[in-house]
Formats: sequence, C-alpha cells, structure tokens
Amino acid sequence: MSEAKTLYQQLGEGPGIASVVDRLYELILADETLSPYFVETRLSQQKGHMAMFLAAATGGPNGYKGLDLDAAHAGRGITDADFDNVIGHAATALTEAGVDAETIGQVAGALMPLRAQVVTGEAAA
Ligand code: HEM
Repeated sequence: MSEAKTLYQQLGEGPGIASVVDRLYELILADETLSPYFVETRLSQQKGHMAMFLAAATGGPNGYKGLDLDAAHAGRGITDADFDNVIGHAATALTEAGVDAETIGQVAGALMPLRAQVVTGEAAA
C-alpha cells in the first residue's frame, strides 16, 4: 500500500522546487513586461523566499519567513496580465523539469487563489 504523494513530493521536494524557482526567475527576468518589477530585488533572497513559500503551499515543510503576500505585493501595481504571465512561466519551468501536466494543473490550482493578494494594478485598457 502506498500513500498518495503530496504535491511537494511530486515536485522533487526542496531541491526540485529550488531548480524550478531558478528557472522561473530566469524566465521572468527575460520577459520585458515583468523584469521592471524586479530591478531592485535581491534575487538570491527572493528565490529563497519563493522556494520556501512554494514548499509550504504544496504540502511540504512550512519554513516560510517572508512577508504576507498582500504586504509583499502592495503598491506595486501588478496587473491580472502580469499574474497570468508569471503562472505561465511557472508552467513552462515545471514542464521543462519533467513535471507531468496533471501535477502542473494542481500547482496552478494552488496558486490561482493567491491572485487577489498579488494583483493591485489596473488592467491595461
Ligand atoms: C502566485 C503568484 C506569486 C507568488 C506565490 C509570489 C510570491 C512572492 C513571495 C514569497 C515574495 C517574497 C516576499 C518577501 O520577501 O517577504 C514575493 C515578492 C515579490 N513579488 Fe511575488 N509572487 C507571485 C506573483 C507575483 C507577480 C505576478 C509579480 C509581478 C509581476 C510579483 C512581484 C513581486 C515583487 C516585485 C516582489 C518583491 C521583491 C523584492 O523584495 O524586491 N509577484 N512574491
């Protein structure tokens, strides 16, 4: 008998998530619609916080010590389109890491409810 794996385990636990997060920020910084948000960001710290956040959000250890997501994104003017693009890049990074489509759908499902905490800007007209 085998227990169902958590999403965290399916992503390769800490090391799997860390490499997906590395690739995610490569894709974000190469996207000229997203990179301006991160000009003042200390990337190594940001990646660490994102990896810890994702571990907790996927059923892994809860070691996240960063800001609440509302506080982290307040006043940045992030739009719905930005949010969708980041989710899209996350799906690309997961696909490249060999994660199957069903699992990617589950990760997206875990992130989608966070939209209201992240999006604070107007949609482009
Ligand atoms: C589900 C989607 C997202 C998640 C889970 C997420 C998660 C996080 C986390 C954990 C932090 C770190 C907070 C801290 O260090 O205390 C953060 C900061 C930040 N996020 Fe997000 N984020 C998401 C979407 C976005 C989007 C769409 C944008 C903009 C395109 C964005 C831009 C930023 C910026 C600019 C920071 C601050 C970086 C800094 O400290 O310089 N995030 N986010």
